[in-house]
Amino acid sequence: MNFSDSEIVGSIMANNGYETTKDIKEADVIFVNTCSVRDHAEQRVRKRLQEFKSLKKKNPGLVIGILGCMAERLKTKLLEEEEYVDLIIGPDAYRELPMLMETVETGQKAINVLLSDEETYADIKPVRLGSNGVSAFISIMRGCENFCAYCIVPFTRGKERSRDPKTIIEEAKNLFNQGYREVTLLGQNVNSYRWNHNDELINFAQLLEKVASVNPQLRIRFATSHPKDISDDLLHAIANNHNICKAIHLPFQSGSNHILNMMKRKYTREWYMERIEAIRNIIPGCGLSTDIISGFCSETEKDHQETLSLMKWVGYDYAFMFKYSERPNTIAAKKYQDDIPDDVKGRRLQEVINLQQELSHKSNLRDIGKTFEVLTEGISRKSNDFLFGRNSQNKVVVFPQKDYKPGDYVQVTITDCTSATLLGDVAES
Ligand code: 5AD
Ligand code: SF4
Repeated sequence: MNFSDSEIVGSIMANNGYETTKDIKEADVIFVNTCSVRDHAEQRVRKRLQEFKSLKKKNPGLVIGILGCMAERLKTKLLEEEEYVDLIIGPDAYRELPMLMETVETGQKAINVLLSDEETYADIKPVRLGSNGVSAFISIMRGCENFCAYCIVPFTRGKERSRDPKTIIEEAKNLFNQGYREVTLLGQNVNSYRWNHNDELINFAQLLEKVASVNPQLRIRFATSHPKDISDDLLHAIANNHNICKAIHLPFQSGSNHILNMMKRKYTREWYMERIEAIRNIIPGCGLSTDIISGFCSETEKDHQETLSLMKWVGYDYAFMFKYSERPNTIAAKKYQDDIPDDVKGRRLQEVINLQQELSHKSNLRDIGKTFEVLTEGISRKSNDFLFGRNSQNKVVVFPQKDYKPGDYVQVTITDCTSATLLGDVAES
């Protein structure tokens, strides 16, 4: 989401005469788009800010702005704590950037952290930052109202709102015409996408099909889904459209019902397992990935074992794994004790990571001998003689260079793998 927001900010600034530079020493303005989801993310921003502070010493005219969730969470406090920062702007106020820049130019500090119930930046054409020219993100909704007990997002990104489907489809068409071949529809909880205006009612499954009909050569991905409302309708939409990728990111967070209940995730382990079975039945061979938190408040060894056993049962291809980090003002911070010692959190997280590595490797080994349609993204990092791309299941596939270009679809038969990558040969046609 942050990446997509940076592209919106880039566009607003470009319309006001600014351009992006890759050389930070050349910059007149530095914006840091921040994440507050874990304390570690905030600490990294603080370190980065120290680097910018020394740049500002050399160039006092340099404008430094903090954007996004940290701006929203800390508001004026950030201006007090980081005195060389000129501008603070929350995720729903980016349209005000040119005005705030004018204030900064008069030598004052500027801040706007108002959240909105309506802002979706629907009409803004994002600039594509650091793009490979093949895949791009499209933001389809903003905010979240799920209030999972550990999570700061509902506080920093505000109410849930969906973007006008016409503007989403237009953006997908424009991207396709520019040569892009893959779009990822983004939102905190895409399954609750809902557009209801003047008798037009569109849910996420319908939106996906509309985007898929832009062109059969355009691949569609989406993130993130919440297990509580991943419907059979959505699964059928994925199964019925070749260009909707067969990969679902479905965070389970914990395998223990006791912890899921405390996390206020609104589903049980059994519900989650039933949804995975539905995915397996409706979309055979679907790629599966997840998010896991280790060491949430009161988590016992037994709870932790239940997380490991659920991971094994599903056999994820990939996982994002985190140590629980208490965030101010969340339900967990107000009601529960952050009572798992850091070394125990660390050990459990390591066990989760080790298991996932095994599962990823096993999943890749099962693909040896299979042939996949791979969308070429570029030259392999390890050798100019090889290209890389992804299959529909979202696995990275490396294969020999044979005059293919980024954006080409290639049939690749898998011959070998590591735990992170599939290696293959171009299939004989
Ligand atoms: N501590 C650790 N991980 C967190 N996440 C969200 N909040 C926290 C937190 N306080 C993780 C969840 C979520 C992902 C985006 O970040 O796993 O799915
Ligand atoms: Fe956070 Fe839960 Fe919303 Fe995801 S669904 S952003 S974890 S509150």
